[in-house]
Amino acid sequence: MALITGASRGIGRALAHTLGRGGATVVVNYKRNADLAEKVVAGIEEVGGRGLAVQADVETVEGVHSLFARVRDEFGRLDHFVSNAAAGAFKNILDLKPHHLDRSYAMNLRPFVLGAQQAVPLMDAGGRIVALSSYGSTRAFPTYAALGPMKAAIESWVRYMALEFAPYSINVNGVSGGLIDSDSLDYFYGVPGMADRASVFDRVPKQRPGTAQEVADAITFLLSPGAEYITGQTMVVDGGLSVVAPPFFADTSAPLSLPAHPTGEK
Ligand SMILES: NC(=O)c1ccc[n+]([C@@H]2O[C@H](COP(=O)([O-])OP(=O)(O)OC[C@H]3O[C@@H](n4cnc5c(N)ncnc54)[C@H](OP(=O)(O)O)[C@@H]3O)[C@@H](O)[C@H]2O)c1
Repeated sequence: MALITGASRGIGRALAHTLGRGGATVVVNYKRNADLAEKVVAGIEEVGGRGLAVQADVETVEGVHSLFARVRDEFGRLDHFVSNAAAGAFKNILDLKPHHLDRSYAMNLRPFVLGAQQAVPLMDAGGRIVALSSYGSTRAFPTYAALGPMKAAIESWVRYMALEFAPYSINVNGVSGGLIDSDSLDYFYGVPGMADRASVFDRVPKQRPGTAQEVADAITFLLSPGAEYITGQTMVVDGGLSVVAPPFFADTSAPLSLPAHPTGEK
């Protein structure tokens, strides 16, 4: 029995399908796209799982409470809470207004904390909480200032929750994505003045964006019994993006550039 916020698209949807294939019951939360959420539910039910689409705007306190009230009324319990929905204003710092800052907190951090407060009483020993973070939690890049520090705070809350919920045998972890193929990545790289996407992907050691499924697979592992001894951590799923630092090999000339592949094939 899993609740995923923002499961009508992207990473949340991939995770909902993956858990559904494993036979789970999945609450598919969404804000606007009822049609997409219902399609996710239909896909889950086709493969033997059970799904329930629940509209709730987690940016509001009432939205988070109504979402969990529905879970309590329908199921009375919860095994997995995945705090995934996110949104933010992609703007330069000097252009951020107070309402952008308030909304970024309300949308990206508060639902995780309020959600965890509601989730824990519904969970038995073995319950799991996972929150989505991103590359912007530890690195700075243009127009991401409203969101990146919220992700850093999520990773910190993951540690505090891990400590407080360990006595109940509830594990709390984060999953931090790099550049993941999704609507939000399209939107981000569509901001005027942003670097060309292809040139950025070339600088990722894996030389491509990740897929929503690859992030969902990491979350699925953290929800599984195999991750029983992992808590308070944030797993990075970024194709090596966070381990590179300037000068990038692509910017250097011989002999600093990477040697040719030994087989001569790449
Ligand atoms: N994509 C990336 O490159 C990337 C990288 C690193 C981390 N992440 C993180 O991964 C998570 C998922 O990102 P994504 O790119 O997969 O998202 P996405 O494709 O943009 O989908 C966003 C989801 O959140 C829902 N949502 C938006 N506002 C909501 C609200 N106020 N209340 C409830 N649901 C709401 C949307 O529902 P509707 O369809 O109804 O609008 C949708 O299901 C986020 O935490 C993001 O920061 C993403």
